[in-house]
Amino acid sequence: MDRQGIHLPDFPLPAKLLCTAVFILIGVGILVSEAKVVLKYRMVDGKPGFSVQDLILSFHGHPGAPLVEVKLRLAPSADHKEFQKPMYKEQVDYLIKWTKEGCSASEEDFAPVVEMIENNCVNCHDPDAVASSTPFWVDRTVKHDLVAPVFSRSGAISATRLVHLTHIHLLSNVMIFALTGIAVLFCRTRSGLKAVLVLLPLIAVALDIGSWWLTAYVSYLFAYALMLSGGLMGLAFLLQFLFVMHGLWLQRPQAESA
Ligand code: HEC
Repeated sequence: MDRQGIHLPDFPLPAKLLCTAVFILIGVGILVSEAKVVLKYRMVDGKPGFSVQDLILSFHGHPGAPLVEVKLRLAPSADHKEFQKPMYKEQVDYLIKWTKEGCSASEEDFAPVVEMIENNCVNCHDPDAVASSTPFWVDRTVKHDLVAPVFSRSGAISATRLVHLTHIHLLSNVMIFALTGIAVLFCRTRSGLKAVLVLLPLIAVALDIGSWWLTAYVSYLFAYALMLSGGLMGLAFLLQFLFVMHGLWLQRPQAESA
């Protein structure tokens, strides 16, 4: 027990109120973020309830399936539901087979793809339409080099999106837990325990963000680590919260307790 210096019980009332209010609001923030994750991803696998499968599909995609199969068959968004109808079965089968066999550029193999795209996709997959980020044609000609890379991509979340998510989450989460960690440093408790309390949420942050990348690009098995990291972060914050509240409101100041 370190008895040197000022600790949470010695804080003046305004400082205690500041710490308490900040901790409560951060706690609400963490609950809301975790709820957001559950709401955002729970239906990805088409079944209600949040599961590791939802995370695998969101970050890794369907193991072994090219993006065109994911979009048209395995997990179609509203725009693509149409293509699950039996009337499209043969054509969609062909697109998937063509993609899995290496997106042959030979005229004979590519012609049915062009026909399908011209008839069904270019209303949206046009430089000026809703799917303008992935146009399949320019100047009213379907281009092999616009189609093949998009069709054959894995369904994994894109690196651009991950960079974007990483920079926001890493910086904000580290700032939050640096702040709560500072309060923990003022707990009147053993420094070994404090070290665990301040590091635990930061380890959870590293595990969380690291697992996005590993799930997307190394193995879908890291989705389990991703699932765990969310729980670990909540638990780590809860421990900090309990220690800090105990120090602020239940322990007696140094002068009295000495
Ligand atoms: C009604 C509009 C619409 C039609 C028709 C449509 N798409 Fe899409 N497509 C979209 C939109 C919007 C996106 C981007 C959002 C998403 O991924 O669902 C998209 C995305 C995709 C993607 C993923 C692109 C990426 O980089 O994530 C593929 C592959 C795709 N479409 C294939 C097709 C194929 C093949 C057809 C025709 C058989 C088709 N789409 C028809 C609207 C459409």
